[in-house]
Amino acid sequence: MRKPIIAGNWKMFKTAAETEEFLTAFKPLVAEAKGEVLLCPPFTSLETAVKVCRGTNIQVGAQNMHWEKEGAFTGEIAPGMLTALGVTHCIIGHSERRQYFGETDETVNKKVQAAFNYSLLPIVCVGETLEEREKGISKEVCRRQVEQGLAGLESALAAKLVIAYEPVWAIGTGKTASPADAQEVIGYIRQVLGEMFGPETAGQIRIQYGGSVKPDNIKELMAQPDIDGALVGGASLKPESFAAIVNFD
Ligand code: PGA
Repeated sequence: MRKPIIAGNWKMFKTAAETEEFLTAFKPLVAEAKGEVLLCPPFTSLETAVKVCRGTNIQVGAQNMHWEKEGAFTGEIAPGMLTALGVTHCIIGHSERRQYFGETDETVNKKVQAAFNYSLLPIVCVGETLEEREKGISKEVCRRQVEQGLAGLESALAAKLVIAYEPVWAIGTGKTASPADAQEVIGYIRQVLGEMFGPETAGQIRIQYGGSVKPDNIKELMAQPDIDGALVGGASLKPESFAAIVNFD
């Protein structure tokens, strides 16, 4: 049985003080959550978030990292810096990073390997653009992103990672993939994972859906057999709406 994992991706929103305010309201609302709860605030809020979440069921992740241990990479954050803060997860290859910051399947692969080397669990984002969807190549795009992003990974590590299927056209647009469409691509991603790592490992890997997830569509999405959680942007910024998603059942 895969344990559901609901993650909030705050993108470039909230100061450290705003993070503390959010968490003070949010903590009691999700104290009884059945699945895992993860919050990924900006780098500048990570220390505060880890401190406020200590002793609770809320885990803290980063939204990005570099793959090198250290070095002359102005503006970047190394994986060991995140581990040292008490951060446990890191989102890798979000479509906004691919689109605006030149991330490729190759850099995603380096980051995934580096994350495991520093005891961070990666949440690897994949998903097609609207143009790719209209061309009917959603599955091919996801296959390439999964195969190249996870190339060379041992099965024992692969079993621990989380994949987020986020169709780019559904992010921040209010357009959600229908639960059946999301299931179709996510089921296919699990098939690709089976080819790479074997069916047993593929059955352990949790796959989230992301893209305009809201309190009123989470239940239907989570009812799909291969959907094990959600990566939530906009609706994770308010304690009540994110808690309603976390407590979907
Ligand atoms: P959204 O963002 O929920 O605001 O669509 C999801 C994401 O980008 O992870």
